Amino acid sequence: MTPHNSAKKENIKKTVIMPGDPKRAKYIADKFLENVKLVNDVRGMNTYTGTYKGKEVTIMPSGMGMPSMGIYAYELFNFYDVDNIIRIGTCGSLKKEIPIKKIILASSSYTLSNFSKEFNGKYKDIEYSSPNLNEKVKEAAKKLDIDLTIGTINTSDLFYKEKKLSSDKYDLLAVEMESFALFYLANHFGKNATSILTVSDNIITNESISAIEREKNLDMAINLALETL
Ligand code: HPA
Repeated sequence: MTPHNSAKKENIKKTVIMPGDPKRAKYIADKFLENVKLVNDVRGMNTYTGTYKGKEVTIMPSGMGMPSMGIYAYELFNFYDVDNIIRIGTCGSLKKEIPIKKIILASSSYTLSNFSKEFNGKYKDIEYSSPNLNEKVKEAAKKLDIDLTIGTINTSDLFYKEKKLSSDKYDLLAVEMESFALFYLANHFGKNATSILTVSDNIITNESISAIEREKNLDMAINLALETL
């Protein structure tokens, strides 16, 4: 147990799927898993362990932003011996040609944050997701007939800002707020992580997804993460 997670070690499985929102974690557990058990409820970050087509999996919310993701991912990798974390979240598209509802697989994340510098003094502005895990996501996407967009995303510390981020170094597809911390910690501990992101809004065209569409589309990302198991 940790100050942020009351689950017994054996109740957290080797692969954890992490939506941002605790309500979404419950939705995934209720709708998609069998033999579900609530294994942690600290701070309302209700965590569920169950099976999907016979495979054991844990669903735990990350909360919003790198500080929150940083706590939970660190503890899962370091204290709970988790091997794989798949984030499923939403993002804002930074390209006119990447519309809402599209699913992005983040092969890397670029950030202006000091997360890495503060963690161990080694500043990095880009971190990669797990190529092995990404191969499995791509295989599952092919089976499910999902046309993935794959590339670099931006992980930002701010949702509200006056200036749109651009980078001369990287072609940024979309923005969200958690993946850099997840990828950095996974690489630090020699573990696997990736992010499957549904485009919920387009920052260039100002389009956004309705609540109903968001749910339907998140089902696609959830299915993809579960089939990756
Ligand atoms: N910014 C940051 N995170 C997000 C956004 C956004 O526009 N949309 C969904 N997650």
